[in-house]
Parts: sequence; C-alpha cells; structure tokens
Amino acid sequence: MSRIHEALQRAYLERGKAPVSGELQVVEPPIKSDFEEPPIVKAEVALENVAEHRWNPSTNSLPTLADRGMGVEQFRSLRSHVYQARYEAPLKTVLIASGMPSEGKSFIAVNLAISLARNSIHNILLIDADLRRPTLHDLLGAPNSPGLSDYLAGNADPIDVMQRAQAPKSGDDGVAGKIANLTFIASGGSRDNSSELVASSRMEELIASVSPNFDWIVIDAPPVLAVTDAVSLSRAADAVLLVARGANTPYEVAQRTKAAFGTSRILGFVLNAVKEAQGKGSNNYNYNYYYHADPEASVLDGQKKS
Ligand SMILES: Nc1ncnc2c1ncn2[C@@H]1O[C@H](COP(=O)(O)OP(=O)(O)O)[C@@H](O)[C@H]1O
Ligand SMILES: [Mg+2]
Repeated sequence: MSRIHEALQRAYLERGKAPVSGELQVVEPPIKSDFEEPPIVKAEVALENVAEHRWNPSTNSLPTLADRGMGVEQFRSLRSHVYQARYEAPLKTVLIASGMPSEGKSFIAVNLAISLARNSIHNILLIDADLRRPTLHDLLGAPNSPGLSDYLAGNADPIDVMQRAQAPKSGDDGVAGKIANLTFIASGGSRDNSSELVASSRMEELIASVSPNFDWIVIDAPPVLAVTDAVSLSRAADAVLLVARGANTPYEVAQRTKAAFGTSRILGFVLNAVKEAQGKGSNNYNYNYYYHADPEASVLDGQKKS
C-alpha cells in the first residue's frame, strides 16, 4: 500500500478533507475474516407502512427541489442519460461512486434521486451506504437512525430502516409533497466493522428483497480509493455512475477509480462542479457538470495525457 494511499485512507476515515492528488493505489478486496453474517430475514415490504418523518431539506444543496433553474435543468439532463441507459440493458440500481472524498457523490446521488422522483409517479429508493461519513440525512434534514448499518448488523428488517417525508398538510406547499414518492434509508451510523457489513451478502439481499417496490434505487457510496466498500456495493447494483470534480480530480485518479470497478457496468462520468463555459456570462461553479456516457472519452478535458 503506497504512503499516499495510506494518507488518503486516514484522511477519509478521520473525516478530513480530500487529500491532494498523487499516486493512488486501489486497495485489495476485503479479506474475509471470521465475521459471522447474521441470518437473512426475508421481509415483505409494504410501502404504505414506511415510517414518515418530518424532513427539513437543505434547499441550498438540493437545487432539484426548486421548480425551475439551472440545477433543475442540469439534473434533468443527467436523468435523461440514466433513462437512456435503461434502453441498452436492464437498469434499476445505480451506485454513485468516485475515487476520493468531496468530489460530489452525495450531491449527485440525492439530487438525481429527487429528479427521478419529481419526474414521475415512480417509487425511488435512496440509500446512504457511506457508513463512515454519511451526509444524506443532513441534506434531507432527516434522522440518521435507524438505518442501513442496523439492517446489515441484523438488528432491523428493511421496513424498519426506511423512511419517507411526512405527508404535507392541506395548504402546505413545503417540499414534502414534491418528493412523496422518495423513500430513504439513512446510514444508521458508523460501526467498527463497516466494511465487513457492507461486503456481506445482506446488502445484495436487501436490494433483492425491496427491489420489486421501486422503479429506481440510488446508492451513495464512500470513496473507492480510500476504502473497499464501494467495490463491494457494486455487486448489489446494476451499474455504477462515476463522479469526478472539475479542476480537482486528476485524470489518473479517474482512471484508477474506473479500474477499481473491474467488469461492473459503468454508465459514465459526471464531471461535477465545473465552471460554466466562457462567454455564457457567468462564473458560477454551482451544479454544472458534463456527462460523458463513454467512460473512455476524455473525461477530464485538458488533463488527459496524450
Ligand atoms: N456541483 C456542485 N455545486 C456546488 N456545490 C457542490 C457541488 N458538488 C458538490 N458540492 C459540495 O461539495 C461538498 C462535497 O460534496 P459531497 O457530495 O459531500 O462529496 P462526496 O460525497 O463525494 O464526499 C459538499 O459541501 C457539496 O454540497
Ligand atoms: Mg458523500
């Protein structure tokens, strides 16, 4: 393991900032320990029984909650690409992943989920699978517990860890009514054996058992070059959507990130938080991204080596 990778892993685990770029090494898959997987509980999930909570979404970080604007448009376009991918091969469960912390995985995951929810009567499930550095509950203003780690540890059934926004009262024009078809599984908090929990077959079992209830399942992953969890999570997903941060993610890191997922289906790269093209009259970084359906394309323009 290179020193830089060790530093990246330490920084992530200590909830620090993304480390500076450099040589990164993809860690090996987790070594099977004597961790005993808890028995699988088969549970029928009836969505009408999902607990409702008062959510207080952070509208600053959720541009897709607005009725119009650049953020809405940009995520609409990403949503179209995701729909398009469904014509190429069956697709329901999408893992949002990147190499390093702070590239925008959670931002893309939650806004894509909201965009999918707002477009239709489809039922959308959003899962925070970053057990060490969860942020989706904060973005939605939702409780973080019980959550995924409780289910994975065998302490809860799927229905126990799902939540929805409290139905709006009449005359209430709050956000809850806009995302009534969004179900959320929070991370449930960190545990010492997070990697083992995520790598256990219970994650795939969860997706298999709840899948009939949902049209789309979006999973937010931890950074794949810091911890192995995202590669484990990809086994439960149909495809991986990769995120790179404009002007931040070195091309080599994007390449290594893609390589880490081996033969998984990669939908493409979202190049997140890039400056608007000159001449469009704005220096705004917010929400701008380019989507490259071909992950071999020059995903980080100007950074690709010849
Ligand atoms: N396109 C964007 N525009 C504005 N802020 C963004 C954008 N993408 C990410 N951010 C912000 O950058 C920070 C890191 O993003 P986050 O989604 O938490 O990264 P990750 O999940 O990859 O660690 C957050 O404060 C988030 O709100
Ligand atoms: Mg995150």
